[in-house]
Amino acid sequence: MKKLGILLSGRGSNFEALADSVDAGRINAEIAIVISNKPNAQGLERARERGFEAECIPSRGFGREEYDRQVVQRLKEKCVDLVCLAGFMRLVSAYFVGEFPERILNIHPSLLPSFPGLDAQHQALEHGVKFSGCTVHFVDENLDAGPILIQAAVPILDNDTEESLSARILSQEHRIYTEAINLVVDDKIRIEGRRVVRTL
Ligand code: GAR
Repeated sequence: MKKLGILLSGRGSNFEALADSVDAGRINAEIAIVISNKPNAQGLERARERGFEAECIPSRGFGREEYDRQVVQRLKEKCVDLVCLAGFMRLVSAYFVGEFPERILNIHPSLLPSFPGLDAQHQALEHGVKFSGCTVHFVDENLDAGPILIQAAVPILDNDTEESLSARILSQEHRIYTEAINLVVDDKIRIEGRRVVRTL
């Protein structure tokens, strides 16, 4: 069975959705380790409560690659096949990407390439778009930029606040991250340039 490594920095609702999918047999993989760069991430607590190996590798004070070397070492020790960034609020280095080529996924709360970076839901509201959504994509060393696996669109309503829009997007995030992971672990896709297409 393929092994997942989950990286997070905060609340951990995407991690929990993935853990639920694993428990329910909706994902053909197991969670080998959960790592946070923030010692007080709620997601770490949630992971430990559920009995997962969950640890903090603090990022404060380390250069990007210097930090990533520590994370990569731990992921390799746990024989991780696929790295899933789940609210991991750091750019990864070219070194990290090179160690897990086409084996790092990220979820982002917008329809990329619109609104990369922080506060994507706020950016969407400010811009006045009528639809936003979420994206699962392969990670490269650029911000929210790699080939796109799955997107889900949600409407933006006139009375939306950042909170209401974020909640609508989040429920789609929880759905599509499981789908995207399955496409990768079941070898159902290949990458052609920027396009991710189904294998026959
Ligand atoms: C999610 O909305 C995720 O898409 C976003 O952070 C939130 C984490 O929530 N990620 C990014 O913005 C990455 N650029 P969670 O900790 O409850 O999963």
